[in-house]
Amino acid sequence: MRSVRAASLEGKRALVRVDFNVPLTEDLKVADDRRIVEALPTLRYLREAGARPVLMSHLGRPDGAPNPKLSLKPVALRLGQLLQAHVTLAPAPVGPSAEATVREARPTDLVLLENLRFDPGEEANDSAFAQGLARMGDLFVEEAFGTVHRAHASTVGVAKLLPAYAGFLVEKEVQELTRLTANPERPFVALLGGAKVKDKLPLLRRFRAKADTLLLGGAMAFPFLQELGGKLGGQPPEPGLEKEVRAFLDQEAGAGATVRLPIDFLVQDARDGRVLEAEAMAIPEHCRALDIGPRTRALFRQHLRHSRTVFFNGPMGKIEDPRFATGTRELLASLKEVGGVHISAGGDSARALTDLGVEGSFTYISTGGGAALEFIEGRELPGLAVLPKE
Ligand code: 3PG
Repeated sequence: MRSVRAASLEGKRALVRVDFNVPLTEDLKVADDRRIVEALPTLRYLREAGARPVLMSHLGRPDGAPNPKLSLKPVALRLGQLLQAHVTLAPAPVGPSAEATVREARPTDLVLLENLRFDPGEEANDSAFAQGLARMGDLFVEEAFGTVHRAHASTVGVAKLLPAYAGFLVEKEVQELTRLTANPERPFVALLGGAKVKDKLPLLRRFRAKADTLLLGGAMAFPFLQELGGKLGGQPPEPGLEKEVRAFLDQEAGAGATVRLPIDFLVQDARDGRVLEAEAMAIPEHCRALDIGPRTRALFRQHLRHSRTVFFNGPMGKIEDPRFATGTRELLASLKEVGGVHISAGGDSARALTDLGVEGSFTYISTGGGAALEFIEGRELPGLAVLPKE
């Protein structure tokens, strides 16, 4: 991808797509500013090279209509604090008011356009909307790694209208995530949990081909245990997966990574709330498995201890409840003593690592949710494919 380092920037308006889709608190403050912090090196570079950044992002899913709760106002405030600069929020993503904000901004100011998804043209990759954005820039910088899997006006549309470059975060994400897919150091262990098993089947297939061991915990393990004849107590697994899980297990016997499933769980009895240990294949009636058990922790730790590359996505249990956070915390904390590459990506994983206090166990934590997972799956990401190679 052509890097922003190759751009001539002096006196230019740089239209930068950032992914400032960050969680907000109830009182509309930025709850986690990682995605903003990660974009700062590119923004500093642009300013030092004499460019005037015009930033664009979405926030949440307002479905094409303005929604004050999803205004980028709190983001503008946080960005200004972090950069120690004045950030002006344009009242709309495109149109006369946005253009006037860009025109009237002082050379040292940054402009952040209002939430792109307040206009239906963004997600539709509408050409008039893309042109409206392109009018406010002389060049385009793609810095929103978390959104490169979306073919929207601000990721693909403008990239076709202006000279386009990759920002530093996009470059870093691609470089780090490629460590998992091109010649990973071995043994390579993928530790996968969380729910939404159906969505993650392509990821599982990818890791079966690339990794040496798959350690499956959380709700991810249930359909596999059931297919192997396990009794899941009061916890029915995600329906409709039997055929795919069977195919996965059958293929697994032939080639690729070995799948390791939990051998025990911490379960809670719905009748009296008691927390007990149970065999993974024989969860008692009325009980729900809410974390991996101590024997599974020991088993999984053994695999992690001998690894050289680890990928983590999705918790092993219901980590919002401290009683069921031990499995995930203990496994991830144990990685700190293990050398090699440790990468986490996807959905709420980054936040979970902060909450569990185990960020220090990782060599890289991606800012990408779905985008990072699709990258690892080997799918073409429209926001990257559209960037010139050199
Ligand atoms: C994300 O948080 O994964 C990105 O910002 C993309 O958001 P989206 O799933 O609403 O397109």
